[in-house]
Amino acid sequence: MGKNDGLYIFCYNGRMNKKILLSGIQPSGALHIGNYFGAIRQFVALQEKYESYVFIADLHALTTTQDAGKLSQSIIDVTLDYLACGLDPEKVCLFKQSDIGGAVGELAWDFNCITTMPYLERAVAYKDANQKAKEVNVGLFDYPVLMAADILIQDADAVPVGADQKQHVEIARDIAQKFNNTFGNTFKLPEPLIMQDVAIVPGLDGRKMSKSYGNTIPLFGTDAEIEKAVAGIVTDSGADIPQNVYAIHKLFKTEAELTSLYDANKGKYKILKDALAADIKAFIGPMREKRNALAQDMEKVKSILKAGGEKARARAEAKMSLVHEKVGMKIY
Ligand code: TYM
Repeated sequence: MGKNDGLYIFCYNGRMNKKILLSGIQPSGALHIGNYFGAIRQFVALQEKYESYVFIADLHALTTTQDAGKLSQSIIDVTLDYLACGLDPEKVCLFKQSDIGGAVGELAWDFNCITTMPYLERAVAYKDANQKAKEVNVGLFDYPVLMAADILIQDADAVPVGADQKQHVEIARDIAQKFNNTFGNTFKLPEPLIMQDVAIVPGLDGRKMSKSYGNTIPLFGTDAEIEKAVAGIVTDSGADIPQNVYAIHKLFKTEAELTSLYDANKGKYKILKDALAADIKAFIGPMREKRNALAQDMEKVKSILKAGGEKARARAEAKMSLVHEKVGMKIY
């Protein structure tokens, strides 16, 4: 308890003075430790400081996951992951994007009408997808516009993300600015919150850890899956310190702790990888136990998501009422 507690309680109860945080993750496969360190850990750390809205971006996932069974399972999985990592539904509004899909889809449409094709063609995610895929669906091309709608419809001030999402938050700012210039002041300009030391968590091959590169360590993998992933870290034979192992190890131990371990085991890759696997398992173990316990009562878990969806939808619909007025659709 500090000297500002009285003020804090006033703010907390009033909720008026807290800034708004919003972020989401796609349910498009098992989450990995890059998602945890780059994003989820920030959501948990900031849940007291901000009025927080954290969601499951299932509409975005539909751009790549077109299997109903897999999508439903993934939505459940990410919900459990969020809760197991420490998101407290008493503090955070946890919801599924499609539960406010009507409002957010409509706002994305409004934004489409003031956003140009050449502007979106410059988006990094589209350029990447365009290079790799034979055909890019319209949803993937329009992905940043839907993301802008997610952020702006809740009046978010802060958007905690990994570095790969920075451009998307900048696009949301540009779109907010364009809408405000066209129709009058309506939207706040959000700021990305990026933790520099974990902005790009490296994967098994040293590139950014990413589902699409197949270089991940699963966040809630079994011990055997974690061991297998760590054994697969690409090591540059000959070096005293295997850089790819060290870069991941830094997430779990301080540099001081690692210095003695790596000095004592120069060139002994197997020992160093075993130590890393042990540290990951020790870190994840308690969260995995919590996740297993939560999974025993799925009705409760779903009810948390449902209640969050109702709250987020009410806010989104109120914002859309203002948007209708601004664009000239509110005639009664
Ligand atoms: P997604 O599902 O790809 O990733 C979720 C979060 O994890 C972060 N992340 C990483 N951070 C550091 N190092 C890595 N290797 C790494 N890999 C992933 C991502 O930066 C992200 O913060 N477009 C979003 C979902 C979304 C969203 C939003 C986010 C939809 N609407 C509105 C914020 C606000 C996405 O695909 O994240």
